[in-house]
Amino acid sequence: MGRDSLAKDLTLEEFARFRDFIHQQSGIFLEESKLDSLRISLVTRATRLDFSTFDAYYALLVRDHKEFNELMNLVTINETSFFRFPQQFDALKNRVLPEIMSAKPENNKNFRVWSAGCSTGEEPYSVAMTLLDAGIDGLGWKSQVLGTDVSTRALAVGQKGVYGKRAMINVPKETVARHFETVPDGHRVSERARKLVDFGYHNLIKEPYPLSLMGNWDVIFCRNVTIYFRLDSTRRVVSNYYNSLNEGGYLFIGHSETLTSISDQFEPVEVGGVFLYRKTRTRKVFGVSVPRVDSVSPLTEASRFKKAERLEKSTAVEAAEATAASKGAAGATGPEML
Ligand SMILES: C[S@@+](CC[C@H](N)C(=O)[O-])C[C@H]1O[C@@H](n2cnc3c(N)ncnc32)[C@H](O)[C@@H]1O
Repeated sequence: MGRDSLAKDLTLEEFARFRDFIHQQSGIFLEESKLDSLRISLVTRATRLDFSTFDAYYALLVRDHKEFNELMNLVTINETSFFRFPQQFDALKNRVLPEIMSAKPENNKNFRVWSAGCSTGEEPYSVAMTLLDAGIDGLGWKSQVLGTDVSTRALAVGQKGVYGKRAMINVPKETVARHFETVPDGHRVSERARKLVDFGYHNLIKEPYPLSLMGNWDVIFCRNVTIYFRLDSTRRVVSNYYNSLNEGGYLFIGHSETLTSISDQFEPVEVGGVFLYRKTRTRKVFGVSVPRVDSVSPLTEASRFKKAERLEKSTAVEAAEATAASKGAAGATGPEML
């Protein structure tokens, strides 16, 4: 069969055809520098399926959603870690949580967080652990965390909730003691935290989003996901987040990301050197909705830029990711719950 012929170079034309399809289906745009890593992914899949040409593989890819998922498992960058950029989790616990809880009516004690592009689950579990540490369950609140992604392989890891040594390196001992149990193949997230988290397949670029996602979120995390997208895709995704959030709800983006030239609908809020984006609450004045002026005033663009610059202390991993926009995704509208 075609292992030998497939090992040949992927021509620029062939690359462009796959790149455009992946971009259209997943939002992920592979720069030309990623030609070789895409070639390796394509050869892996085509060889597995015994195809002898990239053309034949392409013909299957465009008609078979399952094959698209398989390719996404190879193309997406799933780098993540527990409590990645811990300041954001401090801000969630000390600022966002009390603010949202105090604004909810007595008969609504639900707190809902969506981790979009959750990879292997470290992010939604970190959110769940933060909520548990804040003790909101003891106060009679019900919390729910949903993790979604286009990588079915990453989601399966999250669903299992077991992590090896490498994933645990930077997790403080006290957190390990509080939220994990030791199992033969590593550390398993405690049942208390696992109970709060669900996982589901959802492709952020596929619209319309299912009703279950379109609304009633108090917080959305979408960190280090759209760094692989082009501006127009990011705008669409962020606009969907805006519509899905409750008034007063917060969007968390990666610490090296910005909403500048993406959306002016959110109000930037600085908490302990971290920028969060809040959906403004409205109030009715003579039957018309007008924004409410909250105690924290939005920062000016200029001061925001300055502070964002100071915050630009990306880790080596994150810097590598930002330049490693080599991977892609697509699929059906979800979330297809696991
Ligand atoms: C670098 S990881 C970030 C994980 C986590 N949010 C964090 O910051 O640690 C990016 C994730 O986004 C997912 N992703 C990329 N495109 C996506 C899309 N169109 N829909 C949903 N998830 C996507 C990838 O599969 C990958 O798991």
